Amino acid sequence: MSEDLIVVHASELVTLRGPKRARAKAEMSELSIVPDGAVAVSDGVIVDVGKTESVLKEHDASGVEKIDAKGQVVMPGLVDSHTHLVYAGSREFELELKAKGKSYMEILQEGGGIYRTVSDTRSSSQEELFQDSAKRLESMLTHGSTTIEAKSGYGLDRDVELRILEVIRRLGEKYPATLVPTFLGAHAVAPEFKGHPDEYIDFIVAEVLPEVAKRKLAEFCDVFCEKGVFDVPQSRKVLMAAKDLGMNLKVHADEIHGSGGAELAAEVGAVSADHLAKPSDDGIMAMARKDVIGVLLPGTPYSSMSKEYADGRRLIDLGVPIALGTDLNPNCWNESMQFTMSLACHKMRMTPAEAITASTINAAAALGLDKKIGSLEYGKRADIIVLDTPRHAHIPYKFGTNLCACVIKDGKIVWTKQRF
Ligand code: NIG
Ligand code: FE
Repeated sequence: MSEDLIVVHASELVTLRGPKRARAKAEMSELSIVPDGAVAVSDGVIVDVGKTESVLKEHDASGVEKIDAKGQVVMPGLVDSHTHLVYAGSREFELELKAKGKSYMEILQEGGGIYRTVSDTRSSSQEELFQDSAKRLESMLTHGSTTIEAKSGYGLDRDVELRILEVIRRLGEKYPATLVPTFLGAHAVAPEFKGHPDEYIDFIVAEVLPEVAKRKLAEFCDVFCEKGVFDVPQSRKVLMAAKDLGMNLKVHADEIHGSGGAELAAEVGAVSADHLAKPSDDGIMAMARKDVIGVLLPGTPYSSMSKEYADGRRLIDLGVPIALGTDLNPNCWNESMQFTMSLACHKMRMTPAEAITASTINAAAALGLDKKIGSLEYGKRADIIVLDTPRHAHIPYKFGTNLCACVIKDGKIVWTKQRF
């Protein structure tokens, strides 16, 4: 057999071998680690995983690119299951407002927040948006994210929403990353529809969603279901229309107030409900029953200066499969899943093993990609990262630094750390 690449002698080969679906409860702690592990790749696909000795016995490694990962962790490429990657401008000045006590919602209702970014995004060309977002995407890749979900939602009109989705498509074509596009036209009520959320929802359903579906620009549809933004009936309307057009569903649910988002996600058969700082007990139970994945985004309360993190520990114990995402957006400029995992452990009481499961196989499941990526197993796509640290628990433990030494996408080395 001809291999393209073999990674050998990993101090911990974190395989996450197991069912090709989101893992729940105790399954989230099972990483299936192979000490002194190796992984062989051919044609962009994993063809062997095991102890270095046995993998080298099975495969002729002469003339094959070989990575010696002695003293390093090797694991599946990270999956960032929730981002707002494509936007223009920045909102660093809001840091001062937040420090002086303004809440995220107050800033939004005063015309800042999302509205500020909508105005910056509307006045950007497709090329400018592409260049701004490409910089972030490059940084995310160097931090180990090989699959990234990306939402629209800063256009809030037909043309700019479509422009953002086109940019996501172009980024996926140019960069060695899998981009999963989500339509989030219902991210806020457009300024032109101020005070008329129902009319805005009707506009999205009649004028924008069909075009998005026709051009196949989004795999998922999402909605910001939140007190003061879109209520449950309005959110349901958008989601059901998207479902009829063949899209899969996500919900920004119970981020700031308990808004019925978790229940709605279960009712409409959403793949995930995201944020979940304030879900009701009924909502949590409905999610667990319907296998709705909870995507937790600890960067958001961190950047919003809120103490209200989702209770990851409780959600896991109650049987909700948990995934993680950066929520990268101008309020939460977080490009690193490593930092996100650290926050998940320190602020949501998740264990390092759970945080890793939530950033690989479960995050893949939140994007419908659990059969293809998220674990190092025979037949899966060879998205692999090498971390310059010997134990997996170091990932959340050594925070604020990039441990990534090498990123492999579809069997090709796409980035390596420069050494002094
Ligand atoms: O997931 N909550 C809604 N949307 C984003 C924030 C967007 C923004 O503030 O620009 C979020 O946190
Ligand atoms: Fe978000």
